[in-house]
Amino acid sequence: MVIDVLRATTTISWALKNGADSIQVFADLDLLKESATKWHADERLMLGERGGKKINGFDLGNSPLSVTKTVVKGKRLFMSTTNGTKSLQKVQHAKYLFAMGLPNRKAVAEKIISLQKDNVLILGSGWEGSYSLEDSLAAGALASYLETNCDFKVNIMNDELQAALALWSLWKNDILKCLKTATHGKRLTSLGDYEEDFKCCSELDCLDIVPTQVERGVIRAS
Ligand code: MLT
Repeated sequence: MVIDVLRATTTISWALKNGADSIQVFADLDLLKESATKWHADERLMLGERGGKKINGFDLGNSPLSVTKTVVKGKRLFMSTTNGTKSLQKVQHAKYLFAMGLPNRKAVAEKIISLQKDNVLILGSGWEGSYSLEDSLAAGALASYLETNCDFKVNIMNDELQAALALWSLWKNDILKCLKTATHGKRLTSLGDYEEDFKCCSELDCLDIVPTQVERGVIRAS
């Protein structure tokens, strides 16, 4: 399970909701371009950011608001972001791999419950190797949902997730404020008007999409 609340996994979830065929994730931009050029030109989009800003020459940045039906329907999105797609690549060997933001927290949690697995690994993408408040918040939101809705006992296996649960109980009634308080929230605010992105990324349980890796690096809706 990979989380990047601001904004990669939120954008992935919305793109799939809006009918994107699939999303192929890359850490490396040259590899991305090479793969994209092999794809049918009118069925592909290159999407990504570095440091929060759209990559030059790409079709889209990394805003969940940009992946509308008109833009993404039926397309393969070739995507690279500063942290989120790197995290997805890092754990691409996992048997089951999902991407989660706050909008699809419940959908992903229900999927996890239905799989009845012993262990769930939650990877918050953070920022260039450092902790991030918003990913921890979402990890807490997921753990909290599982604790409440599983018909078996959920063991929280490390202090990071205990702290994430505490964070969730502190901020769950003001998610938007938490996102804006986070370092990356402040970074986005310093880059321009991201109010609608913040609103979209902080909306809880409004999407029924489970972004699922179907082959290494390729994510589809389930
Ligand atoms: C990331 O992958 O680090 C983020 O999605 C950055 C962003 O807000 O675009």
